[in-house]
Amino acid sequence: MDDRPIGVFDSGLGGLTVVKELNRLLPEESIVYFGDTARVPYGTRSRDTVMKYSEQCIRFLLSKDIKMVIVACNTVSATSLEALKKKFDIPILGVIEPGALAAVKATRNKRVGVIGTGGTIKSGAYPAAIKRLDPGISVFEKACPLFVPIVEEGWSGTEVARLTAREYLAGIKDSGVDTLVLGCTHYPLLSGVISEVMGPDVRLVNPAEGTAARAREILMAEGLKRESKAPASTGFYVSDIGERFQTIGGHFLNKDINAEYIEIEKY
Ligand code: DGL
Repeated sequence: MDDRPIGVFDSGLGGLTVVKELNRLLPEESIVYFGDTARVPYGTRSRDTVMKYSEQCIRFLLSKDIKMVIVACNTVSATSLEALKKKFDIPILGVIEPGALAAVKATRNKRVGVIGTGGTIKSGAYPAAIKRLDPGISVFEKACPLFVPIVEEGWSGTEVARLTAREYLAGIKDSGVDTLVLGCTHYPLLSGVISEVMGPDVRLVNPAEGTAARAREILMAEGLKRESKAPASTGFYVSDIGERFQTIGGHFLNKDINAEYIEIEKY
């Protein structure tokens, strides 16, 4: 047993999609969340920069005495996970493998779509992970960079979101996928319009769900589950105090969020 919190980080507020699933599946676990709101987006940056930022995020989380790191960001998971695992001596879980596994389980016609940031799509991490599990699956990918600012602006349910989704998803829809991986932390917040565009027969996979399930397996296997009967806590930290994190994030998690500012460059 281990009563220390789980550390979760993302480039911004999107990683709260992972926090939501963790709260649902592992309500007894405490969480320390860091959102790098000063430096979002990561999806358009070079791998070296993403790696440098991620190392700082993990060093900050380690200063909070965590027992495990969950990389909620798809871009970091896709480009830097293996390097981060080599660098830090703590269990580190990313979102790609759990997302790929969920997609493989969900597809019936073996045609899977993946959408994500430019960095995630360029890395080829999702097709590689899916094909490792089932080489017979065809994967169709599309980078959807405008989805992130749309979510950050609080425009998820608007006509702008709908038109953008139609434009980005037309090709993937035509390819006949029956499963679509929402390969970016922010996209589950757009699942309403994405589902509307893709149609009712296409299953949307939110990698956050599989990631929470995998986290539970790791905690059990490593004897790291929290046993304390005291209520679990979630601490929120950001590199820039803006209203968006608290308002959009609070709305999404359905609770008040008080985030504390961290000077992340110091780590
Ligand atoms: N968190 C990022 C991801 O999941 C999306 C936002 C960004 O580009 O930083 O890929």
